[in-house]
Amino acid sequence: MSAWRVRKRLRVAIDGPSGAGKGTAARMLAEALSLPLLDTGLLYRLTAHLLHARGLDPENEAAAVAAAEEVAARADWRKGEIFFAGEPMHDRLRDEAIGALASRVAAIDAVRKALLPLQRRAAAQSCVMDGRDIGTVVLPDAEAKFFLTASLRERARRRWAQLKAIGADPDLEEIVAEMRARDERDRSRKSSPLAPAPEAIVIDTTTMRPDEVLDRMLTILARRGHIEPLSGATNEGG
Ligand code: DC
Repeated sequence: MSAWRVRKRLRVAIDGPSGAGKGTAARMLAEALSLPLLDTGLLYRLTAHLLHARGLDPENEAAAVAAAEEVAARADWRKGEIFFAGEPMHDRLRDEAIGALASRVAAIDAVRKALLPLQRRAAAQSCVMDGRDIGTVVLPDAEAKFFLTASLRERARRRWAQLKAIGADPDLEEIVAEMRARDERDRSRKSSPLAPAPEAIVIDTTTMRPDEVLDRMLTILARRGHIEPLSGATNEGG
């Protein structure tokens, strides 16, 4: 694999529905370019977790906004990880139940507003930031924007395989139904609905391997002059 150099400030926005391969693509791209990775889903997940741990209803707007403000003020969010009150939270935030609660919390406009300044501050320098509204709302002036997508069935199959790999006994049809409901919520909410920015490059990952998605992104960034191979001479990506 070639190593790349970022030529000038480069904030890469990666948006798309869950299971489209955003997380993997963002991680691989951040590694390839040695840039910080900022997974914004963790902020919504942590907000949901705080509500859940305290027995509060995630649709109680006042409680949800207070939790988001607490996340904005107290979370230490860096390099793909998030800490709260000094504790690493990442592992606790990954499960399906927290993801579903996060999607409800994320539909509340005041929650999104409370989490916005933190995201913009974190992206002052070059970075790879992934989420749902990065190219449209958080960083509308990002130097590069990708929107990853894949068929509902393939996205559900990927989630099924992940759950299977950790020893669970998931039901594919249940995952399809849950993902459909979550997509619907993320796309139809009034505040920052999930949609590609007009200038985003859409990549359908349904039949692609993660390394192919990475190559596609690197090729595009190199063609647009954002990055160059460290060796200088050739560009094996493109
Ligand atoms: O990417 P994820 O599965 O960790 O995100 C969890 C939920 O948070 C998801 O249902 C949508 C929401 N989210 C959002 O609305 N905006 C973001 N920038 C990131 C996540």
